[in-house]
Amino acid sequence: MDLKVDPAQEADMDDLMDVQFSAFDKDPYHEALYPGDPASAETRKAAGRRTLEEWRADPSIRFMKCTDGQTGQIIGYAKWNLYEAERPKEEWAHRPDVDWCSGRTKEIAESFLYATVAMREKHWVGMPHLLLSILCVHQGHQRKGAGTSLVGWGLRLAEGLHLPVSLEASLAGFPLYSSLGFHQVDTIIIKAIDWDGNYDRHYAVMLKPLEESSLVKRASAQTEELEADSSKLN
Ligand SMILES: CC(C)(COP(=O)(O)OP(=O)(O)OC[C@H]1O[C@@H](n2cnc3c(N)ncnc32)[C@H](O)[C@@H]1OP(=O)(O)O)[C@@H](O)C(=O)NCCC(=O)NCCS
Repeated sequence: MDLKVDPAQEADMDDLMDVQFSAFDKDPYHEALYPGDPASAETRKAAGRRTLEEWRADPSIRFMKCTDGQTGQIIGYAKWNLYEAERPKEEWAHRPDVDWCSGRTKEIAESFLYATVAMREKHWVGMPHLLLSILCVHQGHQRKGAGTSLVGWGLRLAEGLHLPVSLEASLAGFPLYSSLGFHQVDTIIIKAIDWDGNYDRHYAVMLKPLEESSLVKRASAQTEELEADSSKLN
């Protein structure tokens, strides 16, 4: 299949939401984050508006889309956060307001969201890295390599910048990430009682660490930067 991976544009938002709602159909975390009838245009528009607001407010975000080169259709997308410099502790500790819903739906959304944020704070404070925060491929286009192409874009970026890559894997994503060299460092558990389900949900916290050679390159790049800074001062 002829697949292209490019930066997404704001004008792509409706297509990105169609991909997202198809990929995460009946996913309780997604339902809590984007409540309402998932098939309705209004629910998807509202999700798109919130996503756009977040994108505009957070300079670390990179949206990449995967397009079928033959039809031009967007069939998948990835949302990355590039933390090239150390991210301040207060940012890791920040718990976003769940202000798009109320009552029990709000409590369920907070269970998923805050467990994820807490895990990121636990593991990644003080570590510049690239975070994969969303990966989704339209149901009708899965197992054709789109997921691999989208993650591959991030791995090449991270390699060039000598950064490790982190993510939280659903059951569906775990085999793909494992095959690309990620390994599990922890597990997020959302108890059945906390999402009104009948089983505990598990997400694998995964890391693709820096290769030894990249560590050396990063250290020497930092040394060069320091030397350049000190020569400016002299
Ligand atoms: C996970 C997901 C992004 C994978 O995208 P994809 O385009 O289907 O992935 P690829 O075609 O590149 O698959 C690459 C490999 O990953 C593995 N893989 C992908 N989906 C799999 C599945 N459902 N079960 C088992 N292995 C799977 C396979 O090894 C596959 O290679 P193969 O098809 O040659 O066997 C997609 O299934 C999806 O959007 N799922 C729903 C949303 C989701 O859970 N996202 C991940 C959040 S962490």
